[in-house]
Amino acid sequence: MNILVAYYSETGNTRKVAEAIFAALRHTRKKLLAIDQADDLDAYDLIFCGTPVQNHGVPPKMVRFFEKIPKGKKLAVFLTHGSLRGGEKAVSALYHALSLSKGQVVIGTFGCRGQVRPQMIDLWMDSPQHQAWAREAQSAIGHPDTADLEDAREFAETMLYAAEHIHDAAKKS
Ligand SMILES: Cc1cc2nc3c(=O)[nH]c(=O)nc-3n(C[C@H](O)[C@H](O)[C@H](O)COP(=O)(O)O)c2cc1C
Repeated sequence: MNILVAYYSETGNTRKVAEAIFAALRHTRKKLLAIDQADDLDAYDLIFCGTPVQNHGVPPKMVRFFEKIPKGKKLAVFLTHGSLRGGEKAVSALYHALSLSKGQVVIGTFGCRGQVRPQMIDLWMDSPQHQAWAREAQSAIGHPDTADLEDAREFAETMLYAAEHIHDAAKKS
């Protein structure tokens, strides 16, 4: 297996999760790269794609990166977000990420919270469009935390196993 962990991160939260995923990928060839440094995407058997949620969805830079990924490629998608983990807003952003797949095979997803600068939360609290998640984001301080990063490592191991065994076995049957 040749694996790429590609991430987009503005304030470092998604990068931390990407690093945890990368560290958990043992006994395999692997690279950890910011999306603007990642090319030759065909060389990889599995690509982890990580992005922050912005404006309730996936930011345009990550949308463009998705468009570059060859059809049929196995993807494991991970997000960080200020809103509650497993909450409606986070799930809806995940659906946006999944809708970006154009023939790639998403084998799994992971999401956890990422802290937001208090000054930005204050700004967004005044805007009706952002108020709901900004209120939730107040309690994201300190995330991703140790438990989030442990979950991310477990996600990495599960995806590695799935890419090596389950998916290929399904293709053969
Ligand atoms: C411009 C901007 C828009 C954001 N919009 C959302 C949002 O709609 N929903 C949400 O849950 N979090 C939102 N966030 C919070 C980020 O998703 C969260 O802090 C994330 O962990 C940042 O990751 P990064 O440090 O890798 O950039 C937003 C953050 C920024 C800077």
